[in-house]
Amino acid sequence: MSAPTEVPPLVSRALDLSRRRGFITATRHETGRLLATLAASRTGTLAELGTGCGVGSAWLSSGVAEGARIVSAELDPKLAEAVQDLFSDTPSVEVTSGDWSALERYAPFSLLFVDVRDVKRSVDLVADLMEHGGIAVLDDFTPSYTWPPIYEGRVDVVREQWLTDERFVAVEVMVAPDASVILATRV
Ligand SMILES: C[S@@+](CC[C@H](N)C(=O)[O-])C[C@H]1O[C@@H](n2cnc3c(N)ncnc32)[C@H](O)[C@@H]1O
Repeated sequence: MSAPTEVPPLVSRALDLSRRRGFITATRHETGRLLATLAASRTGTLAELGTGCGVGSAWLSSGVAEGARIVSAELDPKLAEAVQDLFSDTPSVEVTSGDWSALERYAPFSLLFVDVRDVKRSVDLVADLMEHGGIAVLDDFTPSYTWPPIYEGRVDVVREQWLTDERFVAVEVMVAPDASVILATRV
């Protein structure tokens, strides 16, 4: 790994929670470091759709500038409650229990980590949530070396849409040999 192996204390606590809950879809370190790096360049409101056990929010909070805030929504009320506890001493992070759409009232976002599968599939939904210049982050892609992008023998139309939609300037970035992320800046 070409990055420090230590992770910020809140990330470590969120990963512990993931382990205790058997939650296997937590954000991986490479994506987390990217989230922290992008968060450091943002002002205003950053958001995450799909909190899980709080790993993504913890990475965002490790980079976020003073004065900016992070809102995150988790559908599973038990997970949301556990993560609210985790961030009880972190006033810059607010975790909402319920559907991601509860966060619409905080839009537009300067950064949006889209980690709910159905929303990832809708460029239209995300475009309406972003401020101009805001960055949408979508993870969990398998790197594709072709155009159009191929996944499991088929054209990956979701990725194709993200990389060609005129409302965004977007790029697929490999964060590890087996993982890529789409960064899409709203124009
Ligand atoms: C891939 S996991 C999130 C991982 C998390 N972002 C992290 O950094 O570790 C997706 C999460 O989205 C939640 N979810 C699914 N549908 C949702 C919805 N409609 N609104 C909010 N959260 C949702 C799931 O319960 C699950 O915890």
